[in-house]
Amino acid sequence: MILITGGLGYIGSHTVVELIAQGKEVLIVDDLSNSNLQVLEGLEKITGQSINFVQLDVKEAPPLNELIQAHPQLEGVIHFAAAKAVGESALNPLKYYQNNVGGLLNLLQSIPTNIPFIFSSSCTVYGDADALPIVENSPIKRPKSPYGNTKKIGEEILEEHSRAHANFKAISLRYFNPIGAHASGYIGENPKGQPENLVPYITQSAVGKIPPLTVFGDDYPTADGTCVRDYIHVVDLARAHVAAFNRLEENKSKTAYEVFNVGTGQGHSVLEVIASFERVSGKSLNYSIGPRREGDIVTAYANVDKALQQLNWSPKYSLDEAVHSAWQWELNNSSR
Ligand code: NAD
Ligand code: WQD
Repeated sequence: MILITGGLGYIGSHTVVELIAQGKEVLIVDDLSNSNLQVLEGLEKITGQSINFVQLDVKEAPPLNELIQAHPQLEGVIHFAAAKAVGESALNPLKYYQNNVGGLLNLLQSIPTNIPFIFSSSCTVYGDADALPIVENSPIKRPKSPYGNTKKIGEEILEEHSRAHANFKAISLRYFNPIGAHASGYIGENPKGQPENLVPYITQSAVGKIPPLTVFGDDYPTADGTCVRDYIHVVDLARAHVAAFNRLEENKSKTAYEVFNVGTGQGHSVLEVIASFERVSGKSLNYSIGPRREGDIVTAYANVDKALQQLNWSPKYSLDEAVHSAWQWELNNSSR
């Protein structure tokens, strides 16, 4: 049984589907701070089975300890639970350190060290990278937000924990930009309030739920002047977790603590994502060009050779397929 913290969230829920498809049993822990029980219903519809779920806040050590002691059969942990709004983290940094760092510490204190651990990290730890595509051993810079810093600190904690305990093995997956939704239409990205991220902003504005998109700057030193990112289908990202878990379970890690980029290796500009949306939806998107957003990185895309070579994983979906799935999800769920 694998403990999935934050398993009702966007990436966690898609990972649960892929783990169950591979015959794994899961135990989801989520405090519902950024999700809801409809996701659990969606997961049960997709998988055709009832799924173990406990509503619990990983910041609260006593119930977390109790839960872990009651499940001696745990064979792995995938830790998604975190707060992730970059803007909010600058306004309320303590919330982010308490939840993202505090929650990680509680988990590490309560699980036996011989249980494999996978951590949701982020390309944000590279800051403005000096060279592209970004390789795992690029310098880690001070991230631009408290949120990003919680990921950098989380990685450092895992590395130090693995040095202190010979049998502790962990992998941090540094996600680039996950987008899209499961083909069933039962789970997808469901941000609370107005989305900060590009693709949910595009799809929600296209159905008239929120005002038209503002493109944050078109005077960057890129081919069309807009920022470039590595957008990866969330199902491809979910499958990278299964691959990472198998690596840990089969004792294939080269070192006790490892990091892998998870992206497609391709960069796409904001205008290319808009063009993709227009292609797959057949709609023209109403948008305007506005000023740059403070803190934005100009260009970030991954070198994914390490994951391709060592995780026995590769991304399968194109940008159009990912954007199409996000659009289908929006159309199915625009009343939510
Ligand atoms: P999400 O908000 O959809 O999922 C996180 C889940 O964790 C939510 O269901 C939330 O209710 C739960 N949660 C939060 N704090 C909790 C707590 N203290 N106890 C229990 N549950 C808690 O976010 P997501 O996009 O699925 O992200 C998952 C992980 O991946 C996060 O750690 C995030 O920082 C990281 N990440 C996300 C992205 C992205 O662009 N979405 C990129 C890089 C890294
Ligand atoms: C993508 C591009 C925007 C909205 C964030 C986090 C990062 C990581 C991934 C978790 C950028 C442009 C966006 C809009 C726009 N998350 N944009 N108008 O900036 O790569 O990173 O998500 O770890 O930490 O900061 O993703 O989706 O916000 O933006 O023009 O209304 O779309 O400027 O170029 P980003 P994003």
